[in-house]
Parts: sequence; C-alpha cells; structure tokens
Amino acid sequence: MTNAVDEMRAKTLFDVIKEPCGMDTILSTENLCRDFKIGDGSVVNALKNINIEIEKGKLTILRGRSGSGKTTLINILGALDKPTKGKVMFGGRDITRLSERARDDIRRYKMAFVFQSVALMSGMTAYENVDFGLRLAKYPYEERDKRTRECLRSVGLEKRMFHRPGEMSGGEQQRVAIARAIAHKPDIIFADEPTAELDTATALHVVKLFKELVARDEMTIIMTTHDPSMIDIADKVYTLEDGEIVE
Ligand SMILES: Nc1ncnc2c1ncn2[C@@H]1O[C@H](COP(=O)(O)OP(=O)(O)O)[C@@H](O)[C@H]1O
Ligand SMILES: [Mg+2]
Repeated sequence: MTNAVDEMRAKTLFDVIKEPCGMDTILSTENLCRDFKIGDGSVVNALKNINIEIEKGKLTILRGRSGSGKTTLINILGALDKPTKGKVMFGGRDITRLSERARDDIRRYKMAFVFQSVALMSGMTAYENVDFGLRLAKYPYEERDKRTRECLRSVGLEKRMFHRPGEMSGGEQQRVAIARAIAHKPDIIFADEPTAELDTATALHVVKLFKELVARDEMTIIMTTHDPSMIDIADKVYTLEDGEIVE
C-alpha cells in the first residue's frame, strides 16, 4: 500500500537506509563513548566503550541507577545526540556520519520517542493529540482518522478518546503518548524512563503494553528504567554502571 507518506519516505530516505546490518539487528553500537566537558574544565566520561545490539521485534531494557548513563545512551541511539567516539549503526549505516538533514529524516519517519514526563497538549483531547502527530508527519486526511482510532484502541483507550489530559490518570496520559508514538508506524520506539512518574501497578501496565505491542504488532522498543521490577518482562536487558555495560 502506498500513500503520500510512504512516497516521501522513499524519496528522503532513498539513499539513507540500505539493507539491515544483520537479519535481526536493527540498531547497534561499536565502541561508543560520550564525554561531557563541564564548567570547571574537567571531563565526565558518561559512556565508556559501549557495544550493544538491539534486536528487531523485541523489547530491550537498559537498566541502571540514576547517573549510570541511560539517558545519554538512549539519546545517542535515537540520533538526538552524537557520540564523542564510536559508531551507531541503524539499518546497516553509521548514522553518526550522516548530515543533520538525514538524521532528522530518520528521527521523524523511522523513530519515535516516549519520555518520562508526558508531553501532551493540555488543550487537546487524546484523539487530537494523536491526530496532531500524524498531521505533522503529513499523513493524508483520509488515513488520519482511521489510524488515530486504531492507535488509541491498541493502547486500550477507545473509551477515553475525547478526554483531555487533565481528565485522565497519569497512566492513561502515558498511553496516549504511546498511541501518538506508534501512529506513524516507526521502526523503533525509544522510551526514556516512561514509568518513572507512575505508581508501580500503573508502571507495570505500561511495560506490559509495550510487551503487547512487541508481540502483537512486531514493534521494536527500547526503554530505560532504574526500577528492577520491570526487567522480567524484557526480552533483553543491558545493565549500565558508571557508563559501562556490565553482565
Ligand atoms: N549535558 C551534560 N553535561 C555534563 N554532564 C552530563 C550531561 N548529561 C549527562 N551528564 C553526566 O553523565 C552521567 C550520565 O548521565 P545520564 O545519562 O543522565 O544518566 P541516567 O539517565 O542513567 O540517570 C552523569 O554523571 C551526568 O551527570
Ligand atoms: Mg536518565
């Protein structure tokens, strides 16, 4: 099925996305390092020689204490930041070497992000929040209504479609954010501590929803957490300690 969005993707990504690197690896890093220079002239080695592989169609969790480097790593994986050294391979290409334009395209069409604090538009209903994302992605009008309803249904919010964020619980708001993230059918979803502001039961619901999206819709999801109770649900867990992956 082709539509305007697919055509645009084909055009802008024609030379960007080649064959996947391995059969099942969508994203991987090679000797990734990230240093931050701070005010007093000293350097923080936030990531040290990270080598990981993210498998397609799986839920991967990056766990670690606060300050261990989770946000730094997920931001680099999601092309929001660049490493000081090393590579990030996405779809067989080192995306750290691409132009900002190409990195923008990859982020916009191939990736999606869910954050700790739910960034919904407070004046818009759940439906309008999801639809807004599709409008930004230039989805044609005829497809938007169908896709918006489909996504809200798949996160279990068909009954809350016309509620505003203020009329929903924290867990429901995070589910709207997830519906918005999956709406443009990204290849991979990045979620940085998506459960940190939720109580344990609600947090588990959100992670189970991720698991369902992976199992049912073959999505690829990578999330960070400092909460050890989440990790049983993951297909793969990487543990970060002081910027390093440990067993
Ligand atoms: N922009 C920055 N400037 C300086 N230091 C940073 C910056 N971002 C992160 N750091 C440092 O890098 C380390 C890892 O941070 P972060 O990735 O945010 O950890 P986590 O998400 O696991 O809590 C911390 O020591 C943090 O202080
Ligand atoms: Mg963090």
